[in-house]
Amino acid sequence: MKTLALTFLVILVVSVQSSSGAVHKVGDASGWTTIGNVDYKKWAATKTFQIGDVIVFKYSPQFHNVMQVTHAEFRACNASSPIATHTTGNDSITITTPGHHFFLCGVPGHCQAGQKVDINVLRSASVTPSPSPAPAAVDAAEAPAPSIGIASPLHDSNRRFVKLVMALALAYVSVFA
Ligand SMILES: *[C@@H]1O[C@H](CO)[C@@H](O)[C@H](O)[C@H]1NC(C)=O
Ligand SMILES: *[C@@H]1O[C@H](CO)[C@@H](O)[C@H](O)[C@H]1NC(C)=O
Repeated sequence: MKTLALTFLVILVVSVQSSSGAVHKVGDASGWTTIGNVDYKKWAATKTFQIGDVIVFKYSPQFHNVMQVTHAEFRACNASSPIATHTTGNDSITITTPGHHFFLCGVPGHCQAGQKVDINVLRSASVTPSPSPAPAAVDAAEAPAPSIGIASPLHDSNRRFVKLVMALALAYVSVFA
């Protein structure tokens, strides 16, 4: 019963978080390429990635591919043992875990030429980007909106909704577990 209740809680929280699922096309109009020296690090820095978001790699499958690799392999441009490989040229990858997700093109020389991207997914559901990692999800939710931030009534009501759902789920757990 306890496991069931906890599963219910996890599903609720995940479904609330993934309901906002944004779609990010890597490189925007340039796509996934070695042409034009696209700065994928800069591209990623302008985005806020959250659990449930979809990362889309668009490229010509004759010339490129997408491999998810470890941090060490990413740094070394080592494509010898990828975690996952995508080759359609229109690859949609849904982010289901927080933290860094490293991708590179496995065609020899392409990663070295800069065709690599680090997708860093936020741990909390907070919509306010923060330069330092939030100590805990609860703190992020409780923090007052910054006076010069981008907080809007919509964001605030989203946050309240998440807290309401979590409170209901916790009440469910404490009653039935
Ligand atoms: C590439 O990565 C594999 C597996 O992680 C490792 O065994 C191999 O030594 C690496 N090659 C180079 C050149 O770093
Ligand atoms: C790429 O994939 C998405 C979703 O998988 C689909 O909606 C879209 O039509 C595809 N685009 C092309 C050009 O195949």
